[in-house]
Amino acid sequence: MKVMVAYASKYGATQGIAQRLGKVLDECGYEVDVVKCADIDRASGYDAYLVGSATYEFNWRKDARRFVERNEAELSAHPLWLFSSGPLGTEQVDKDGKDVLEGARPKQFAEYSDTLHPRGMQVFRGAYDPDKIRGADRIIAWMPAIRDILPKGDFREWSAIDAWGKSIADDLQSADARP
Ligand SMILES: Cc1cc2nc3c(=O)[nH]c(=O)nc-3n(C[C@H](O)[C@H](O)[C@H](O)COP(=O)(O)O)c2cc1C
Repeated sequence: MKVMVAYASKYGATQGIAQRLGKVLDECGYEVDVVKCADIDRASGYDAYLVGSATYEFNWRKDARRFVERNEAELSAHPLWLFSSGPLGTEQVDKDGKDVLEGARPKQFAEYSDTLHPRGMQVFRGAYDPDKIRGADRIIAWMPAIRDILPKGDFREWSAIDAWGKSIADDLQSADARP
């Protein structure tokens, strides 16, 4: 069974998550291609898809949104999982007591839930190095109000990423996932 893991990443954190998910699925016996959304025109020829993006200002990156637009028919006709990277930090709840991962769901999750019917949508914590960022991100990230909510560090939770990848492998093994 062939699985595509397509990702949009600006500074590498989401790419690392995508590669890790690909490794987990590969170790579970699937034939996996981990690809950049921007590099793929038509995403045909796979039995299942994982699509992920970094979240910036509550949105998936344009490359990922365009990939979904181009491939809506293919994605909605196959088992599909969506993931995003961001937020930063280790807190479980924010200052209002709201679950941090829940609050960091990109806007696209609600929309794609209706149009693509994914089997799962997962937010993972991301990574951020202020010395690496460029252009407009640099201006936004250094605004005092923003700086406080963008702690520096690599907060990716590899055990949660591995567990999610394994749950997808298990789901694909179940009879109803077969094309
Ligand atoms: C300018 C800026 C805006 C961000 N906005 C969000 C956001 O709205 N929600 C979120 O969860 N994370 C946000 N983040 C954190 C990034 O999503 C996180 O660093 C992510 O892991 C980066 O992935 P990448 O390296 O693949 O681009 C933001 C980071 C920066 C620098």
